[in-house]
Amino acid sequence: MAASCIHLVFLLCLVPAATVASPHRNLRKSPVDIAAAAPSPANASPPTTFYEVDRPLRPPPGSSGPCSTLLLSGSFAYTFTKPPATAAYSPPPCLAAASAVSLAVLEWHATCRGVQFDRIFGVWLGGAELLRGSTAEPLQNGVVWSVSKDITGYASLLAAGNSTLAVFVENLVNSQYTGVYYANVTLHLYFRRTPTRPPPAVAPADLIVPMSRGLPLNDGLWYKIQNATDVVSTSVTLPSNTYRAVVEVFVSFHGDDEFWWTNQPGADANGPFREVTVRVDGVLAGAAWPFPVIFTGGINPLLWQPITGIGSFNLPTYDVEVTPLLGKMLDGKAHVFAFAVTNAVDVWYVDANLHLWLDPGSTDTAAGLVSYVAPEVAAATTSSRTTASRRVSATGWVKSSYGNITTNATQTFHFDNTNTNDGETVNQTTVAHAGVAATDLAGVLYYSVQTRQSFPLLLDSGADQVTVTHGLEETTVATGRWSSGPRYQSLRNTQRSSVAGASRGVRQTYRYEATDGCYLRNVTSSGYSIVSDQSSEACVKGPLR
Ligand SMILES: *[C@@H]1O[C@H](CO)[C@@H](O)[C@H](O)[C@H]1NC(C)=O
Ligand SMILES: *[C@@H]1O[C@H](CO)[C@@H](O)[C@H](O)[C@H]1NC(C)=O
Ligand SMILES: *[C@@H]1O[C@H](CO)[C@@H](O)[C@H](O)[C@H]1NC(C)=O
Ligand SMILES: *[C@@H]1O[C@H](CO)[C@@H](O)[C@H](O)[C@H]1NC(C)=O
Ligand SMILES: *[C@@H]1O[C@H](CO)[C@@H](O)[C@H](O)[C@H]1NC(C)=O
Ligand SMILES: *[C@@H]1O[C@H](CO)[C@@H](O)[C@H](O)[C@H]1NC(C)=O
Ligand SMILES: *[C@@H]1O[C@H](CO)[C@@H](O)[C@H](O)[C@H]1NC(C)=O
Repeated sequence: MAASCIHLVFLLCLVPAATVASPHRNLRKSPVDIAAAAPSPANASPPTTFYEVDRPLRPPPGSSGPCSTLLLSGSFAYTFTKPPATAAYSPPPCLAAASAVSLAVLEWHATCRGVQFDRIFGVWLGGAELLRGSTAEPLQNGVVWSVSKDITGYASLLAAGNSTLAVFVENLVNSQYTGVYYANVTLHLYFRRTPTRPPPAVAPADLIVPMSRGLPLNDGLWYKIQNATDVVSTSVTLPSNTYRAVVEVFVSFHGDDEFWWTNQPGADANGPFREVTVRVDGVLAGAAWPFPVIFTGGINPLLWQPITGIGSFNLPTYDVEVTPLLGKMLDGKAHVFAFAVTNAVDVWYVDANLHLWLDPGSTDTAAGLVSYVAPEVAAATTSSRTTASRRVSATGWVKSSYGNITTNATQTFHFDNTNTNDGETVNQTTVAHAGVAATDLAGVLYYSVQTRQSFPLLLDSGADQVTVTHGLEETTVATGRWSSGPRYQSLRNTQRSSVAGASRGVRQTYRYEATDGCYLRNVTSSGYSIVSDQSSEACVKGPLR
């Protein structure tokens, strides 16, 4: 993806395109070769729409809106080493208060035409990243794609006042790679008819603190992590009445580590296990074991047209609850939040947003750590198999006007990767559990959020065929006095993409079942055509828990 392309363009693009190879076997094909191998629809045809299968975002019943505002309209040609596109941001006049927002959607709508690699892009507001995605690798007749992301969690940032919206698309244009990206960023807001603040566990944070490189910059605002010992960090002074804190991590991998999960243990750079660690003043607060996103140009671009890989247009982010560690952060002094990537090879783009909830009833909260356990990663490797697991658990109390509430946050992870025939076949699964439980001295449950994620991935490649079967499964159960009733969310998103000789296609099933509604989609493509596409918003299993 982007960064690899940068390397490729500078190091290799002066030689014939056929020799442009990815660092790890042949997991990247030049769009020039692809254009020759699989002719685009005729140049005069309308642009082809690419999309990532996702659920529509519906405002809660009774909402008004949308109130839509075009935030930025930009073109991205030779942007490498140039400043991001920026636009002055003022809260739209319809946005009276953060607490009135029932749903905020950031829409990215973009086009490109010609020959170009897929590129990485990010959107930041006041230095806080809102969206990270891969661009669609274009066709001669052009591509168009859009992404809608729920950014309700940033309501306080959207309402906070004037700031700067920044968009960076890392692109390079020359005589061979001609595609220029054009993009519009639009904010759609929906409002509650009677503004009532949701209970604390479901309310957006009161303050978002960006943890990025900030502006001005001739680059994206993400930090770049280049190797296993590289640590990036930022200092933050927390408001003295903070009672809850969550670090939301954005991550993408490029260049020599775009296909980290195909590395053979012992043979390729640092093997296939990767994790992003989050430290507060040097103490491990938690980790993110990344979903192996495959960008639109990954392995073989024909796998991802017109239906793109899971997470590729809207990369997943990862939450680390740091409330139990607030004890040492409420002293009015700056504290260091640091990020690293275990086993990293050049290059990982990482930044984060710190979500803080502030006590409306006091100017000072107090906090203390009760217990903390974080053993080293347990990893085991044979010549073909790598397994790893980790557990991080912290418990701490926070005394606010809500009472003296003790929070236990526990993450557990398991990783299993089998690599055969030097990466021709890779079978990997990452399973992550995160549990947060907050109770007061009398044992009353304020909130409990239990999340289980599973990322299965199977790559099966040979001389003339490649099949990628991967999935993103996530179940969340939330309850407690600070939740609006027990809530349940389950997503099973499974995709199988294959290219064999001249035939290729995608089969994808997206099954979302939740307290707030359901969405089922079953789509099949062949070449550039959609063969079948069924969707339903009925909850087939009847009333949900
Ligand atoms: C952006 O919006 C402008 C104004 O509505 C429109 O003319 C243009 O085609 C849009 N571009 C994209 C890439 O959506
Ligand atoms: C915010 O920006 C708007 C539009 O540029 C301007 O009219 C307003 O005075 C600014 N507000 C503040 C507080 O700077
Ligand atoms: C790791 O990357 C950092 C940042 O680029 C660099 O300063 C350091 O020398 C590198 N370390 C190794 C072992 O390559
Ligand atoms: C809050 O409760 C914990 C025990 O759960 C106790 O150790 C701590 O002293 C209490 N804090 C305050 C300020 O009362
Ligand atoms: C925190 O939760 C984990 C997982 O449920 C549990 O194993 C641990 O005992 C809990 N710790 C405390 C101090 O309650
Ligand atoms: C992939 O590995 C899992 C164990 O993690 C195993 O249960 C499964 O059968 C394997 N699948 C294939 C196709 O080898
Ligand atoms: C999805 O659609 C395909 C083709 O219509 C069908 O064969 C398959 O059974 C469907 N799967 C589900 C889960 O509905």
